Amino acid sequence: MEQTVKIMITKIIRSDPVDEAVSLLKKGEVVAVPTETVYGLAADAKNDLAVKKIFNVKNRPSDHPLIVHIEKADSAVEWADSIPAAFYKLAANFWPGPLTVILPKRNSVSDIITGGLDTVALRVPNHPTTLKIIEKIGNGIVAPSANAHKKTSPTKPEHVLRSLEGKICAVIDGGMCAIGLESTIIDLTQKTPRILRFGAITADMIEKVLGTNVESPASHKDRVSGNMKIHYQPNKPLFLVSISELEEVLQKNSKVAVIHYSDVSKVNYTYYYKMSENKDEYARDLYNALHLVDGYDIAEIFVEKPPLLPEWSDVNDRLIKASFKE
Ligand code: TXA
Ligand code: MG
Repeated sequence: MEQTVKIMITKIIRSDPVDEAVSLLKKGEVVAVPTETVYGLAADAKNDLAVKKIFNVKNRPSDHPLIVHIEKADSAVEWADSIPAAFYKLAANFWPGPLTVILPKRNSVSDIITGGLDTVALRVPNHPTTLKIIEKIGNGIVAPSANAHKKTSPTKPEHVLRSLEGKICAVIDGGMCAIGLESTIIDLTQKTPRILRFGAITADMIEKVLGTNVESPASHKDRVSGNMKIHYQPNKPLFLVSISELEEVLQKNSKVAVIHYSDVSKVNYTYYYKMSENKDEYARDLYNALHLVDGYDIAEIFVEKPPLLPEWSDVNDRLIKASFKE
């Protein structure tokens, strides 16, 4: 029997987006919204059917929990139980901003959001449009990055369309994301706070605020991006190489794209994307560079290994996963 395929036109909403986004979300639709880190695929956090749609649209396993985006730190009590003092210190210093906090969940929080865990992830994003949407809808919104599972996250509306066009009804255009990589995730449910995903808020910054030691284990068993080996991947295979390996590649391959920050010798038919040597600028531009070169007529993407310094941990984490081969 033939199957009917529902084709949806994905609209980019550029002007007065708040009311339209809120009305779509209230109807149970999923909508891509801007944040300062990456674009998120939002659903009303109190509507289980809408939350389920996110998993279908992204092709995301149901045990991969979602972050609840709230309007302000005070709203945390609606979602979390036994909130420690450390939470309020972090919220006062870093919210709205690129920090997600894991807390014990309240019983009322849907298992669909938490993937059956007894904890919940909370964040106040720093984007005026999305903050207004959250305020107007009254509930929190759940929002994973607005990309197909395991693919490169979006920092511009057109990046969202690359993997979700025809599958969602709208993208709210909020410009290019200012930070460019996903939020830092910190787990406050253990005795010692623990970073589960590297991001713009570093362990050092958190330690200064809390006055305690923060763990950032290289590997852990929690169900966060940090423990998926394959993630953030473009469609074309990506290889992470040193500058000397890159020079060798350039002598042999012509139909490749090269993303680099050092000066490199150029050959014909190769696409180059020059990154900044400044870490924040590099982070802001990385997914943009990956989406752009991935769309070129090339076979492979070569990325020069960024510096192995603690402040580059988030960039290195994303690139290692983007280059991982099974
Ligand atoms: O910057 C961000 O955090 C973006 C923007 C849109 O806010 N969102 C984002 O969502 O990166 P997502 O779903 O792509 O990544 C969230 C990560 C997932 O790897 C998930 O496993 C983890 O957060 N997570 C969610 N709830 C958790 C929980 N209760 N315990 C541990 N990890 C959790
Ligand atoms: Mg993601």
